[in-house]
Amino acid sequence: MQAEELDPEVLKRYAFTVWSYKQGEMVSLMIHIGDRLGLYQALRGEGPMTARALAGKTGLQERWLLEWLKGQAAARLLNYHDGDRFELTDIGAAVLADELESTAFAAGAFSGQTPPETVDKLVDAFKTGIGLSYEDLGPNAAHRTERMLGPWTRRELIPNILPALDGVVEKLSKGAVAADVGCGGGIALTTMAQAFPKTQFHGYDPSRHAIERCREKVTSLGLTNVELHVAGGEALPATPTFDFLITFDCIHDMTQPGKVIESIRGCMQEDGTWLIKDIRSAADFKENMRNPLLAMFYGFSVSACMSSALSEPGGAGLGTLGFNPQVARDMVTAGGFSRFVEHDFADPSNLYYEVRP
Ligand SMILES: C[S@@+](CC[C@H](N)C(=O)[O-])C[C@H]1O[C@@H](n2cnc3c(N)ncnc32)[C@H](O)[C@@H]1O
Repeated sequence: MQAEELDPEVLKRYAFTVWSYKQGEMVSLMIHIGDRLGLYQALRGEGPMTARALAGKTGLQERWLLEWLKGQAAARLLNYHDGDRFELTDIGAAVLADELESTAFAAGAFSGQTPPETVDKLVDAFKTGIGLSYEDLGPNAAHRTERMLGPWTRRELIPNILPALDGVVEKLSKGAVAADVGCGGGIALTTMAQAFPKTQFHGYDPSRHAIERCREKVTSLGLTNVELHVAGGEALPATPTFDFLITFDCIHDMTQPGKVIESIRGCMQEDGTWLIKDIRSAADFKENMRNPLLAMFYGFSVSACMSSALSEPGGAGLGTLGFNPQVARDMVTAGGFSRFVEHDFADPSNLYYEVRP
């Protein structure tokens, strides 16, 4: 059919949908620049601010700031006031500025454009079937993942999540042996190690970039109860070792999740607990379509999660949305665990499973 024969209104709406994703790409880059230059922190609590005042506060160029501020107002992220004054509201600050204080913080997820060589490799992956591991994605990806997933973990893990698990806080307080498998940059690991100094913690991740970030944190916090291993969940101790073990947002990234689950079973004490955090999803795609951010999750999957889970021949390729409650229950049962309790901590992106031998 020729373009002239198509319904012009429907064509316009469809083209608008496509251009809105291009707009998203541009606004994403602007959020990254704002985050990197500390502009949201500089705007926080100031009320309506001119580009000149922002330049005075940050030492940056007024003309560049004015263009950025106008773009942020156009994106509805800043409020516009007469006299070219721009305001970051308290709500805006919670999402864009308050990394340590707010579980809603999101600016850390915006790490700029994907490097062209990574895009080339992803295009190739569609032909070869073999994706990129987190290690292949480089240090920037490890940093972005940590900043994206860290706020919720940092604020909720100790006060709200661990106390809901049967007997775990008591054990960790007295002194136990615990592991974070797929620990990434180590926010959960170091948060727990600080809270429970009598427990010895082990962090495992096959990505050297991730373990490097962990190591920096462990050193800067002066933690003496953490040991780090550049190794995947396939290489856990073969004898019962851990009283508590977590896997946060990583089973769906693994090439051999079934093998790792068996390996976790083998290293758990008989009265141990395994806490899984994984993406909130359903087995039914139509049900998932109710999630207004679903397309973003599929983007994460192709560019990182499924890619990692297919980074070796024969990889399981679960991907971001592939470890739903049904799959989780079936796989951990097949791996030799008998108790499975689903927890909903109102984390908008994740569900939690308390699993025991
Ligand atoms: C999305 S990140 C999550 C990191 C961290 N748990 C967090 O919550 O911030 C997924 C991590 O799983 C790791 N990973 C991939 N395959 C793995 C495997 N076989 N065993 C352990 N970790 C693995 C990746 O290297 C990456 O650091």
